[in-house]
Amino acid sequence: MKKKIFVTRKLLKENEEKLQSLFEVILNPKDKIYSPNEIIEGSQKCDGILSSVTDPINAETISKFSSSIKIIANGAVGYGNIDLQAARDRNIAVTNTPDVLTDATADISILLLLGASRKAHEGRLAAEKQQWIWSWDFLLGKQMSNRKLGILGMGRIGRAVAKRAKGFGMEIHYHNRSRLNKELEQGAVFHENIEDLFKQSEFLSINCPATPETVKIINRKNLAYLPPKCVVGNAARGDIVDDEAMVEALKKGKVFAYGLDVYNGEPKIHPEYLKLKNIFLLPHIGSATKRTRWDMAFRATKNLEMFFKGEKPQDLVN
Ligand code: DGY
Repeated sequence: MKKKIFVTRKLLKENEEKLQSLFEVILNPKDKIYSPNEIIEGSQKCDGILSSVTDPINAETISKFSSSIKIIANGAVGYGNIDLQAARDRNIAVTNTPDVLTDATADISILLLLGASRKAHEGRLAAEKQQWIWSWDFLLGKQMSNRKLGILGMGRIGRAVAKRAKGFGMEIHYHNRSRLNKELEQGAVFHENIEDLFKQSEFLSINCPATPETVKIINRKNLAYLPPKCVVGNAARGDIVDDEAMVEALKKGKVFAYGLDVYNGEPKIHPEYLKLKNIFLLPHIGSATKRTRWDMAFRATKNLEMFFKGEKPQDLVN
């Protein structure tokens, strides 16, 4: 008998077809954003859940899951939306989808740094309103080429950002929980702590996961270590940044510009970010290419398939 999977969000057609060929599935054709209670109710008679980054699956929600639920396959590389300990306590496996979104997210990290440093938002507004004329000092940005780039979090995505940034002639510095081996480092300079990294970072790319250790790590104290007029990009998670401290740094010009794709309490955006000019905003589209979204959902499906075959899923995180 086919296992039954509750899919919290509408997937691309090909992904839903693949799932249907393997499992009995409950889909979400209207792509409603379910409340935790709706996920609990909807998955009552299911064996597994295919969740998305928009589903907050906290300890309370997990405690109310039907005992039939054995796996949550999160269709994302990040899994901060799931309480891993609570899942472990209920003996529920959790998987993610690494690798397949590395390139797409690294591309967006570069776009954030470029969009912010070259005033893409202001440029777009001026063009749209037809209120512009070429002049020597019109929308002067900060040039990214040949600067020092600090990367916070040198995992797969951080390393892919480094690779791209080298094409801009950038000198790569990084901080990570542990130092990488020479082969992975590819000449990047390791800093043992944030203070040392930030002091070097004319540009800073945030690419670390959100964990209890990294939440609000971009705070008033750490922002003060950055060189004046640096550029920051965040393609990781909104909760890594203390928004109040960032707004203050942007207003003072300590941070020249901030490019971000992720927010605290998405889809809400800190109201000050919407008012500031030195901001480049995107709506969490780091992994949003068709190829990547296909691969992410296929990977989540593969994890479900392996799990129910009695194999260890390739992307088990708990
Ligand atoms: C992830 O996979 O964590 C991304 O943020 C989803 O787009």
